[in-house]
Amino acid sequence: MNNCKCSGEAARFPQLEPIMAKYAGEPGSLITILQKTQDALGYLSEDAIAHIADRTGVAPAKIYGVVTFYTQFRMKPVGKYLIMLCMGTACHVNGAAELAVAVSERLGIADGETTPDGLFTLNIVACLGCCSLAPVMMVRTQAGDETYGNLTKTRIAEILGEIAGGAPAEGVGA
Ligand code: FES
Repeated sequence: MNNCKCSGEAARFPQLEPIMAKYAGEPGSLITILQKTQDALGYLSEDAIAHIADRTGVAPAKIYGVVTFYTQFRMKPVGKYLIMLCMGTACHVNGAAELAVAVSERLGIADGETTPDGLFTLNIVACLGCCSLAPVMMVRTQAGDETYGNLTKTRIAEILGEIAGGAPAEGVGA
């Protein structure tokens, strides 16, 4: 039985319809729905969570439980550039903690925060999967991800300056 308010809900989030059509009726697909919703909207707003609850029949409290349990989910919008600075083992032993301080100081934000101009969000993350380039950061934009390796404080300052100036530096393509 489907007693959801599908037509009204679909009108609120038309971009989520392909996701809902495919997964809303699938048991055990909540995390997939949340991941794909976050990809589509950039973050999981209260409205989006209410929409998912309506469409899947999963209680909002359960969805909030999942969203707050997994660090991959965000409930706030991210900046135009999402900086993912790796703090995995290889990066950590190669000075990532110092780089994190440098990024924080330069942008004036802590891990998980967004600059007031909405340009940058900083996320400290676990291994990005390119440890041979440690220390590494990835910058996510609407155009895709760019990876920067063998970082130093000087190099980070250059990269952030180029991004802020509208001419993102070339990454390593990892
Ligand atoms: S530990 Fe940083 S990329 Fe693997």
